Amino acid sequence: MQEKIIILDFGSQTTQLIGRRIRELNVYCEIVPYNKFPKDDDSVKGVILSGSPFSVYDQSAFRIDLSEIRGKYPILGICYGAQFISYSNGGKVESAGTREYGRAHLNTFAKDNVLFKGVREHTQVWMSHGDTITAIPDNFQIIASTDKVQIAAYQIKGEQVWGVQFHPEVYHSEDGTQLLKNFVVDVCGCHQSWSASSFVDTTVAELKEQVGNDRVILGLSGGVDSSVAAVLLHRAIGKNLTCIFVDHGLLRKDEFKNVLHDYEYLGLNVIGVDASEKFFKDLEGVTDPEKKRKIIGRDFVEVFNAEARKITDAKWLAQGTIYPDRIESLNITGKTIKSHHNVGGLPEEMHLQLCEPLKWLFKDEVRRVGRELGIPEHLIGRHPFPGPGLAVRILGDITREKVQILQEADDIFIRGLRDWKTTDASGKESSLYEQVWQAGVVLLPVQSVGVMGDERTYERAVALRAVTSTDAMTADWAHLPYEFLAKVSNDIINKVKGVNRVTYDISSKPPSTIEWE
Ligand code: XMP
Repeated sequence: MQEKIIILDFGSQTTQLIGRRIRELNVYCEIVPYNKFPKDDDSVKGVILSGSPFSVYDQSAFRIDLSEIRGKYPILGICYGAQFISYSNGGKVESAGTREYGRAHLNTFAKDNVLFKGVREHTQVWMSHGDTITAIPDNFQIIASTDKVQIAAYQIKGEQVWGVQFHPEVYHSEDGTQLLKNFVVDVCGCHQSWSASSFVDTTVAELKEQVGNDRVILGLSGGVDSSVAAVLLHRAIGKNLTCIFVDHGLLRKDEFKNVLHDYEYLGLNVIGVDASEKFFKDLEGVTDPEKKRKIIGRDFVEVFNAEARKITDAKWLAQGTIYPDRIESLNITGKTIKSHHNVGGLPEEMHLQLCEPLKWLFKDEVRRVGRELGIPEHLIGRHPFPGPGLAVRILGDITREKVQILQEADDIFIRGLRDWKTTDASGKESSLYEQVWQAGVVLLPVQSVGVMGDERTYERAVALRAVTSTDAMTADWAHLPYEFLAKVSNDIINKVKGVNRVTYDISSKPPSTIEWE
């Protein structure tokens, strides 16, 4: 059985980070909404209560019945989690007057407390709260203080319950990972055995049990997530998996052909559907980005469903949904950050059940699993690519001609990134493609004057976009070498008919976004 830590999510922006840090310790964990503790799960080894945008004394604050977990599992409350445990046991929590944000130092802490094993003197921690615990119940004991915050951490005497008002999960808390390790390994007794290989073994066994001899349909996109989900399922159920790969005509140059070839090489049973005609027809004259997305989403579901219906004995629909996709739709504070095109679109009358084998994984973990499954590096190391494809990189209306121009320019840029290698300070060589998170070319709805030979030209302008990021939520423009940009610009203008100007996008996200539409 896969031992796990449960993180109860009270809505903090850093809840995901707690999960990441614990996974980095090779300990499996799941983030669940604060009120959805899995009661009958014997594999739970400990519980973490996250931060929250609320104050404990707010009318609408998220509350739980602590008696359901207290005494049964070790508990660590972080920020709001710590305040909640103290408050609901009779402690006092008040507005901090000045909000306590940013770095602080644990000037005193109980060195013999297991939570602080290996934590350095005066270690830096990161504070981010508007409330503070001003009094704790009698049976609580202060175990750390900073200059400003007397009750920076506490333990309930004689119990395995701790609270920390700072955020050990954020990078700026220097010994934060050590503290989390002390909790999950030393206190909860987790074995640090969670790895890509153990994930593959457990998941293949679970899928065999879940799906049995049923037939499963899976929509492939050419991206990492759906590819890894497909290979994982293929390992579990072999020929009972049928994959459908829809070409909307808005993929990169030769992508449909190349990716289909890769899938066949991997042994997958794939139906490739060229539906570009339908998409181009329905997109004719449409310029509004959201309309484009809606049409593409709708057409995609129609084409996919038409193919899926032919597989009359299918019982399951598998999807490559990963954890961050779901966290956004699960977000308990009710704010949708972005709608994701992967989720939804089930052919209802087929009564298919949903199978999402990667739903607990972060992106880098999906890649590790993919490598473990032997998927070739050029598929695993791929940049993310938006579901609506080049449609959101052609500003204005979409025509086949514009798609072709963009595909050519994009191909030059991407091949250039792959071919340009640099060496870092440690002597490690890597390509620019590997160094950036995502890259592509945008076709702008402007024409500009140029001169080629003796001729005046009046042609299109494109923008190159390359960003560094860890999760696409924030991104910086990639500082690509000037010589490289010069070469790509030259190549595009010389080789792509219809383009006479190349610009480089130097906007970060926020306030810009990665895509232009
Ligand atoms: P933005 O432009 O919001 O993009 O900074 C963040 C990430 O999401 C991708 N993206 C999409 N992916 N459907 C998708 O599947 C979409 O409609 C969509 N829009 C943006 C984008 O490529 C980047 O990786």
